[in-house]
Amino acid sequence: MSNKTLAILKPDCIRKNLIGEVILKITEAGFEIKGLKMVKLTEASAKGFYEIHKNKPFFNDLIKYMTSGPCVPIVLEKENAVEEFRKLIGATDPAKAAEGTIRKLYATSIQENIIHGSDSDENAQKEINHFFSRKELLDINGF
Ligand code: CMP
Repeated sequence: MSNKTLAILKPDCIRKNLIGEVILKITEAGFEIKGLKMVKLTEASAKGFYEIHKNKPFFNDLIKYMTSGPCVPIVLEKENAVEEFRKLIGATDPAKAAEGTIRKLYATSIQENIIHGSDSDENAQKEINHFFSRKELLDINGF
């Protein structure tokens, strides 16, 4: 069980001016922020990040959406971070997300679902490495 996960505030979250509100939900739930930046994904970077979905019918639209504006990747720490964070954000489809979850509160569609959370400890580490260099995290936090 790892204590880190990667969140991404997606372009719709930034367009709706919800960065502050969503981060407040995350910190109120007991997550500590260990890394945070605003980036605009290139097509190549988005395709690399979502490689696992490359054969899905929604892949091209997903890449268009994720490169449509800036997003905010955040390294979070909490005990059992991956599972706890996925509970906080709710199901991929906001229509199916539990009451009080971030997607239920703010997301509008299965694609424009405001926020990403890693789905396993292994992917969390890979995804953190996608956005943050070892040196950046070492300089900031000593890890
Ligand atoms: P996430 O689970 O963070 O990562 C994969 C993303 O693909 C998902 O959020 C949605 O943004 C998008 N996605 C997943 N399933 C679908 C779908 N059926 N139709 C459109 N987009 C989807």
